[in-house]
Amino acid sequence: MAFIVFEGLDGSGKTSLIQKLKDYVTHLGIVCTVTREPGGTSLGDEIRKILLRTNAEVPVPECEILLYEAIRAQHVATVLKPALKKQSWVLCDRFTGSTIAFQAAGRSLSLTEAVWLNEFATRGLKPDLNILLDLSPELSLGRQKIRIQTTGLAADRFELEKQEFHEKVRQGYLHQASLDPKNWFVLDASKSLEELFTLVLQELKNRKWLN
Ligand code: TMP
Repeated sequence: MAFIVFEGLDGSGKTSLIQKLKDYVTHLGIVCTVTREPGGTSLGDEIRKILLRTNAEVPVPECEILLYEAIRAQHVATVLKPALKKQSWVLCDRFTGSTIAFQAAGRSLSLTEAVWLNEFATRGLKPDLNILLDLSPELSLGRQKIRIQTTGLAADRFELEKQEFHEKVRQGYLHQASLDPKNWFVLDASKSLEELFTLVLQELKNRKWLN
């Protein structure tokens, strides 16, 4: 059983890496749950829409963080804890580290309050490992533009933030990782998916979670 969270700026390649790892471990016969925040439950998916929409009242940072934590509380209690109890591996796209990076570092909310709110929503559940796909804001914004052009999907409220915001978020991630290197594995997300996957597998083998 392992609870692994993938973190990073938008466009860092979390989704493809999670899918590849899921396919790999499932082939080994390991039960694996893939989930994400904001979202992961039907209630969470509804709040996600409110958080990402661009055509309505903008939540103040205090409201924004509480909405993320509301999603998280429901997700932890109804999806994550039950899956872990059943000994499933859990691969989660974003979790508490996103709140520290986006709301504390990015929106300049108090770090102490963000840590407390994370503790409250998770009731102490912590990832066994955070994998940070570190990417420069320039590359992140460039990849987002390509995605918007190729899919036709509009940018969400966070994707429309200035480069300066994304730089603060990136630093918020790197700072967390530097304070807790045992629980954070930092990868250079400008590498190819194949290279990133090889590095992740090696890390999981080093931790004896895979043979
Ligand atoms: P996604 O596009 O990776 O699904 O996430 C939507 C946005 O939500 C993304 O720009 C990061 C942001 N976010 C926060 O600001 N705080 C959080 O706690 C989480 C989980 C996500």
